[in-house]
Amino acid sequence: MSNLNTGTPSTVPGATSLHSLAPLPYTENALEPIISAKTLSFHYGKHHKGYVDNLNRLIADTEYADLTLEKIVTSTAGKPERTAIFNNAAQAWNHTFYWNSMKPNGGGEPPVALRQKIEAAFGNVEACKKELASTAVAQFGSGWAWLVLDSGVLKVVKTANADIPMTLGFTPLLTIDVWEHAYYLDYQNRRVDYANAVLDKLINWEFALQNAG
Ligand SMILES: [Fe+2]
Repeated sequence: MSNLNTGTPSTVPGATSLHSLAPLPYTENALEPIISAKTLSFHYGKHHKGYVDNLNRLIADTEYADLTLEKIVTSTAGKPERTAIFNNAAQAWNHTFYWNSMKPNGGGEPPVALRQKIEAAFGNVEACKKELASTAVAQFGSGWAWLVLDSGVLKVVKTANADIPMTLGFTPLLTIDVWEHAYYLDYQNRRVDYANAVLDKLINWEFALQNAG
């Protein structure tokens, strides 16, 4: 698990532990023109916040009320009767991870230690980016494209809806949200343009290296 700050559970006297919406690591207009302030405002302030609010409502007075976000995700994964809690917890986690997977003036060359791992797995950085973009496009419907570590080897995977690599045994290094709400205002149906723009201009390779431990 990464050392991502996924929001600090805060205890309200007489109430359950609440999960907070982790702050954005930059301002809402910081990713323009690749991702507009309008997209970021809705995506963070409505969608991401909605998942956190739903989660807090769903776990109140349950055995999940005092667990960390990560523990909720791993302990509800694969349990059909807990799908709603899993979906909202995983989406709360995925979005914080996604915000940190990007930065203003990102893209460019990965740090040497990461580049060596990329070259070992994909041949070169361009091939890795190409696979991330094609995987983002190949995900049918909503989901996520991820760079992950699988037993120490870099790999690109996709997950559907709220699904999250930890439950598949992978260590996530970075992600691209391919739900339509992530790009439709700026790119309409052109998911590939959104994915390539994020990879070229925003991707945060330092965050990926940090997660690679
Ligand atoms: Fe999203």
